[in-house]
Amino acid sequence: MNLDETQRAAQAQFDRQAASYGSTHILNDVSDVESALHGFAASELDPALDIATGAGHTAVHLAGRGLDVTAADVSAAMLEQTERLASERGVRLRTSRHPAEELPYADGSFGLVTCRVAAHHFSSAPSFLAEAHRVLRPGGWLMVIDGSAPDDAPEAEEWIHRVEKLRDPSHGRFLTPSQWRAAATAAGFDVTRCECTPFKQPDVEWYFRTAATSDANRTQVLDLIENAPEEARRVFHLGREDGRIVWWWPRLTLLAQRREVAKPPVET
Ligand SMILES: C[S@@+](CC[C@H](N)C(=O)[O-])C[C@H]1O[C@@H](n2cnc3c(N)ncnc32)[C@H](O)[C@@H]1O
Repeated sequence: MNLDETQRAAQAQFDRQAASYGSTHILNDVSDVESALHGFAASELDPALDIATGAGHTAVHLAGRGLDVTAADVSAAMLEQTERLASERGVRLRTSRHPAEELPYADGSFGLVTCRVAAHHFSSAPSFLAEAHRVLRPGGWLMVIDGSAPDDAPEAEEWIHRVEKLRDPSHGRFLTPSQWRAAATAAGFDVTRCECTPFKQPDVEWYFRTAATSDANRTQVLDLIENAPEEARRVFHLGREDGRIVWWWPRLTLLAQRREVAKPPVET
């Protein structure tokens, strides 16, 4: 598997941290996925590819809905977690190790491609979208869920970028809703939903622990929080509960459909 520097950094980070992503992790709550895919019949989405599956919370949920699921990631240790979770929940899926930006599947192989809380690590969102488009059949669906920042809050976006980078240097960048919409449209999708909803994160100690943030970087993040600009305070609802720092992050959901291939005109 040939990986670029960004992909290698993510692989190293998640190989190291895989044990923190089991069934007690907040990603185990898949209500965001349920809400995004509410109303679809399994037959409309089958088979499914879950890219950057992590410990498999999305993939296992989809398999539990009766879909034939391939769960893919660059990190072997995360894929072991996925297999463990699938076995605990009594569902079957297959795992596959490859980067999001280069998919080893034939054109039109899937009815659904999902990617949750991972795209901000990718070396190229446009390559991921182009590959997702290629492996979906015409009319197939793409669901992306990720951290984000509102389009009209550049100071808050820059602030969370610095916080995330210090917390986990394998972080790339969150895209705003209009950036996702433009990139998905350019890749050949019709976007049916692209919006942020506030998501309450556990406290900051949890945030550091799951990424094994160094002491020096923790200090810098706490300093950034202490001195956060007004716009970041507003967007991230920065506050304290029982003496602990709490925050709500904008979580973006993108739902998009691969454009049907235009039929050539019938010759008369
Ligand atoms: C937070 S976890 C994903 C959570 C998971 N999608 C869920 O719903 O529970 C992020 C995952 O992205 C993977 N990842 C990061 N960059 C990647 C890339 N370029 N290609 C494939 N996987 C990647 C990491 O290895 C990690 O397992």
